Amino acid sequence: NLTPVDRAKYAAARRAVDLVEDGMKLGLGTGSTAAWMVRALAQKVRDEGLRLTCVPTSARTADLARELGLRVVPFEDAGWLDMTIDGTDEFDGNLALIKGGGGAHLMEKIVATASDRMVVITDASKEVKALGAFPLPVEVVPFGWQASRMLIEELLAAMDVMGTQASLRMNGSRPYITDEGNHILDLSLGRIGNPRQLSLALNQVPGVVENGLFIDICDAVVIGFPDGMVELRD
Ligand code: A5P
Repeated sequence: NLTPVDRAKYAAARRAVDLVEDGMKLGLGTGSTAAWMVRALAQKVRDEGLRLTCVPTSARTADLARELGLRVVPFEDAGWLDMTIDGTDEFDGNLALIKGGGGAHLMEKIVATASDRMVVITDASKEVKALGAFPLPVEVVPFGWQASRMLIEELLAAMDVMGTQASLRMNGSRPYITDEGNHILDLSLGRIGNPRQLSLALNQVPGVVENGLFIDICDAVVIGFPDGMVELRD
């Protein structure tokens, strides 16, 4: 009795887990799709008696992975990873992504770029012609976040984007705090003409730690459908 979208996410997760081999060091993404992957992975480890080393991209994923019996190690003990499997908020025809809807894009980007391969798992609803309908998350240090926001809004006004508004992500009445102790500004852009240029420019703003654009990082996207079928893009 899963919803159609959960069946689609699970189908993509199962297919990506098929790529996992004994002895691999794996990055584990964050979000509801990645959670399906962690469950499918734990099942595969039990069924096949695999020895894996797992590096989670958030405290949430770490808790789930440990609870299901996966071997979780601190990133510094793992070294280079064979593969990271993660969800996304948007992907385009170049396999560029917007991530960070769940607030974990900083750790996700570090882990994905320290992996031989990043495989993204998703349902079909995340595919877009141009990135930007999903608000772009930008992690900023709490000190002077208002100044960082002003600088970002000035930058956006000078670039090929539709919106210029950066809003502080909240958790109830308080600013949202990431696992690394920072805040997030969500940029309502509408459409991003040049994601690479925007990503580079945003990361130049003082106080910005990392933005949610993943350019040339994702190697393959596995799209799941409610009937259990999958489509692979790479
Ligand atoms: C976490 O910060 C994000 O990058 C997630 O990967 C993204 O929000 C996808 O989440 P869902 O799988 O729940 O849509």
